[in-house]
Amino acid sequence: MASKPVILVTGSNGQLGKELKKIASSLLQFEFIFLSKEDLPIHHFEMVRHYFTTYKPQYLINCAAYTAVDRAEQEKDRAFQINGEAVGVLAAVCNEQQCKFIHISTDYVFDGTATVPYKEDSLTNPQSVYGASKLEGEKQAMQFNAETIIIRTSWVYSEFGKNFVKTMQRLMSEKEEINVVNDQFGSPTYAADLAEIILQIISSQKWKPGIYHFCNEGIITWYEFALAIKELTGSNCKVNPIPTSQYPAPAKRPSRSVLDTAKIQNVFAIEMKDWKESLKVCLSAIK
Ligand SMILES: NC(=O)c1ccc[n+]([C@@H]2O[C@H](COP(=O)([O-])OP(=O)(O)OC[C@H]3O[C@@H](n4cnc5c(N)ncnc54)[C@H](OP(=O)(O)O)[C@@H]3O)[C@@H](O)[C@H]2O)c1
Repeated sequence: MASKPVILVTGSNGQLGKELKKIASSLLQFEFIFLSKEDLPIHHFEMVRHYFTTYKPQYLINCAAYTAVDRAEQEKDRAFQINGEAVGVLAAVCNEQQCKFIHISTDYVFDGTATVPYKEDSLTNPQSVYGASKLEGEKQAMQFNAETIIIRTSWVYSEFGKNFVKTMQRLMSEKEEINVVNDQFGSPTYAADLAEIILQIISSQKWKPGIYHFCNEGIITWYEFALAIKELTGSNCKVNPIPTSQYPAPAKRPSRSVLDTAKIQNVFAIEMKDWKESLKVCLSAIK
């Protein structure tokens, strides 16, 4: 019997990695190898080669990333090592081994000043070290492996790890009143939906390299996101809208980083899910 195609997932203990793991058990046509940061720190290049030689994967999904947006302002070298250089090495090894590479990037590659949603070829202009390091990763991925698929996403949350939804739920249970920024616009992405479309792309066997945008459907502010969490969880906490100027953070965030998702819908026949419907699914998974 022919052996199953192997899908290697790096950074498997993060939000996206764990959502992929949840779906993997129902995809019997593939063999999944999940590697956490502890198993495979992607910036240890000899280990990367070792795992490729051991498992000979047909696909690599890189969920590993330095995602501490504010801390990155102080740890530029580390952010660039993991989000930039290491991604280049993964891409090069995939190229050598004829392994198809899916890498995840971010809306933070844009400056957020556009009045219309960003397309894949819109001008990038990151405003933070994190955004710049992720852009470097995109460039290195494409430079060392022109067959790479890069998916830019935004405002990722899930039942796992640290994210806005879980932080809001905690704060709403601890406080009578909270303030949430109401002048940054974007689209939330449920990591389970992202995991599903990544595996849909692989299963389709319709490999079309390039950059794609994916997020849930709908444009909201963080304040509106918090209000929906309050409503759906039945919290009594008062939620106040504030401007970004009242919530200073080390890293600058794009004020309007809305992604145009038409390309991924058209190329891979992907059906988009409404942000609030996906939020409901996540909240019941958290319960
Ligand atoms: N979260 C968002 O809002 C968001 C928005 C847009 C795009 N993205 C992108 O989406 C992807 C998935 O994000 P996520 O939310 O799932 O992130 P996450 O939950 O922070 O997961 C990232 C994982 O990578 C691991 N990691 C860090 N450094 C590593 C290294 N050198 N080698 C191997 N693993 C390493 C982390 O381990 P530790 O936690 O132990 O460090 C963590 O388990 C990332 O590429 C991210 O940049 C995320």
